[in-house]
Amino acid sequence: SEARKRLIAGLIRDVPDFPKPGVTFKDITPLLASPNGFQAAITEIIDAAPRDIDVVVGMEARGFIFASPVALALGAGFVPVRKPGKLPGAVLSQSFELEYGSAELNLHADAIKPDARVLVVDDVLATGGTVGATAALLKQIGAELVHVSVVMELGFLGGREYLVQRGIDSSSAILTV
Ligand code: PRP
Ligand code: MG
Repeated sequence: SEARKRLIAGLIRDVPDFPKPGVTFKDITPLLASPNGFQAAITEIIDAAPRDIDVVVGMEARGFIFASPVALALGAGFVPVRKPGKLPGAVLSQSFELEYGSAELNLHADAIKPDARVLVVDDVLATGGTVGATAALLKQIGAELVHVSVVMELGFLGGREYLVQRGIDSSSAILTV
C-alpha cells in the first residue's frame, strides 16, 4: 500500500560519502530496527510475490535478512547465495562485473531441484549485477526464476533494464530515481 511504502521510505537513511566520496549510501538499519517498518517491508515483498513458490533465494549478506521471513510466510524453503569460500558442499560459481574489478557468488549445486519455482529476494537492486549472477546460478541448475523482489530499487543505475534484457521479472517496494 502507499502508506506502507511511505513508512518504508521514511526509515531508509541517506549516508553521504559512504563508502567513498560522492556516493550516497542507502542505510536500511533504521528500517530493520523498526518493528512496523520491518513488517511493512516484508508485507510489500510478499504482496508482490507470485504464488506457488517452492524456494526463496537470498544473497549474502543483506538479502538474508529479508528473504528468510518471506520464505517462512510463503511456506517455501530458504536457500542462500553466498560469497566465495563460505559454502561447505559442492558449489556452482558465477562471476560478475563491478565498477572496479569483479566479484563471484556461489550456490550449493544440490540446493534446488531443477523443476523448482524460485523467488529471489534482496534489499537493494542497484546495477543488477548481484541479481544477474544469481539468475545465472539458477540457470546452471535449470530452476525457474519466477520473480525478483527487492525493498529498494535505485532507478538511476538501470538495474531494472539490465534484468529486463535478461528476461527477468522484478518489482520493488520503493523506487529511488
Ligand atoms: C549490495 C546490496 C545488493 C547489491 C546491489 O550488496 O545488498 O545485494 O549490493 O548492487 P548491484 O545491483 O549493483 O549488484 P553488497 O554485496 O555490496 O553487500 P552486502 O554483503 O552487505 O549485502
Ligand atoms: Mg547484498
